[in-house]
Amino acid sequence: MKYNERIRHLGLKRKLCSAEQAAAWIKPGDVVGTSGFTGSGYPKAVPQALAKRIKEFHDKGDSFQIKLLTGASTGPELDGALADVNGVSYRAPFNSDPKMRKRINEGDTQYLDTHLSGLSPLYRCGALGQMDVAIIEVSSINADGSLVASTAVGNNQLWLNSAKKVIIEVNSWQCAELEGMHDIWEVTSSFPHKIIPISDPSNRIGSPYMTVDLEKIVAVVETHSADRNAPFTASDENARSIAGHIMEFFKYEIKKGHIPYHMLPIQSGIGNVANAVIEALSEGDFYDLKAYTEVIQDGMLAMLATDKMIAASATSFSLSPEKARYFNENIQLFRKKVVLRPQEISNHPEIIRRIGCIAMNGAIEVDIFGNVNSTHIMGSKMMNGIGGSGDYARNAYISIFMTPSLAKEGKISSVVPMVPRVDHISQDVQIIVTERGLADLRGLSPKERAKLIIQNCAHPIYKPLLQEYYQLGLQNPSIQTPLFLKEALSWHDKFVETGSMA
Ligand code: COA
Repeated sequence: MKYNERIRHLGLKRKLCSAEQAAAWIKPGDVVGTSGFTGSGYPKAVPQALAKRIKEFHDKGDSFQIKLLTGASTGPELDGALADVNGVSYRAPFNSDPKMRKRINEGDTQYLDTHLSGLSPLYRCGALGQMDVAIIEVSSINADGSLVASTAVGNNQLWLNSAKKVIIEVNSWQCAELEGMHDIWEVTSSFPHKIIPISDPSNRIGSPYMTVDLEKIVAVVETHSADRNAPFTASDENARSIAGHIMEFFKYEIKKGHIPYHMLPIQSGIGNVANAVIEALSEGDFYDLKAYTEVIQDGMLAMLATDKMIAASATSFSLSPEKARYFNENIQLFRKKVVLRPQEISNHPEIIRRIGCIAMNGAIEVDIFGNVNSTHIMGSKMMNGIGGSGDYARNAYISIFMTPSLAKEGKISSVVPMVPRVDHISQDVQIIVTERGLADLRGLSPKERAKLIIQNCAHPIYKPLLQEYYQLGLQNPSIQTPLFLKEALSWHDKFVETGSMA
């Protein structure tokens, strides 16, 4: 058997079948766990075949839905296809697919939005049921049956351990030389947990391969399909201004000796603003950077290709189509610098605190006391979910949240009297940045925070209104946190009623 064959185990080669045959193993009501994290490494053929099967059931008047657990967001072939046929009764822990988002917001799918490092402990304690089927994308299968993950590790190993049946998708679009990049290490299921021996993003502590009881594998399906690979929009002026304020802040902190000249390991959230910040870091005077993060986007890949960044630990890639092609063609540049870990390890509080991460995450809106909403539009409509932002923000050495000061062409202020949904409490939020400026909230009381956030971060259209609100709050008999209850959520109420907060 040739080494460059993707399926090097003879017994498993005999289990090759079509996606339709594989999907037939999945039954109504099953708990299904899949690979996939931020649009990469998710199975692509079997979920689409499953969607077809579900539709056939529905067309006959029979019910068929599954409970779907993943690593994080997947792609149109998985979340999109299953949402199309209303095939998911329950979804966790993160989604960014617009069709699945609609199902969630319309109440067809129950959604558990939870910390990404926290899903596996929840699963282990029995709160998510017993997994029936795991569908895991790999880039190859070794002769001994061990598995090489593809562009995401996520919760793969836990799903492989727990599922009664396993379906493997072998995706030849994924670069075969991903082999060796992964580092599979499992948290013990009993307490006290073993100490995780990572003190630097480059540390490797486990095996490059995932393992599975081969008896459980019921089907192997070959695919050749690209990851979701959504292109990034070119960074706009706001994103560049936000990035500029953060660069100034870093330079100042380095000058004061609060962080070393080559910085501390950085974590960068998802989205266009996060990518713009990374681009700014790559253009700035920074060298020998390291990342301890959950996802490697375009900007970070560019730094890894040079001596700007010397090591990155993550659980997945999330690249534009152009950068995904570049990555596949130049993987040798990255093999030694990148470690892909299970998300329980990439996002583990123990390590984030130990190594002193600098966390940078996106916010939907912030309030004048520094509470952050990252998940719900107007308090009730789910956007994506908290993802890994909470894993990092609470435990980071420096925790930064960024957002443009306005949304929806100025009809919304992203700095508000009170957020209608709190994902990150003020105690976990140290720095807030908008294109208007940066507020360093460390060590400040609520009143001091409010003045600084309004002064530095609010847009001039809304600044006088926020100052007025703050003065009303000061008329409250208790002014530790000057809240004016009657008006605290009136801005959101006004937007819902009139289409504008102004
Ligand atoms: N009120 C209402 N809507 C708002 C808003 C506000 N204050 N601020 C932004 N929005 C809307 C935007 O208009 C846009 O809507 P559209 O899709 O209809 O155009 C949408 O929210 C996304 O905004 P955008 O500015 O494109 O955000 P982004 O790409 O920078 O992402 C988050 C911002 C918060 C949605 C994103 O960072 C996220 O999902 N975070 C949570 C998960 C996370 O942090 N993961 C990383 C951890 S490692």
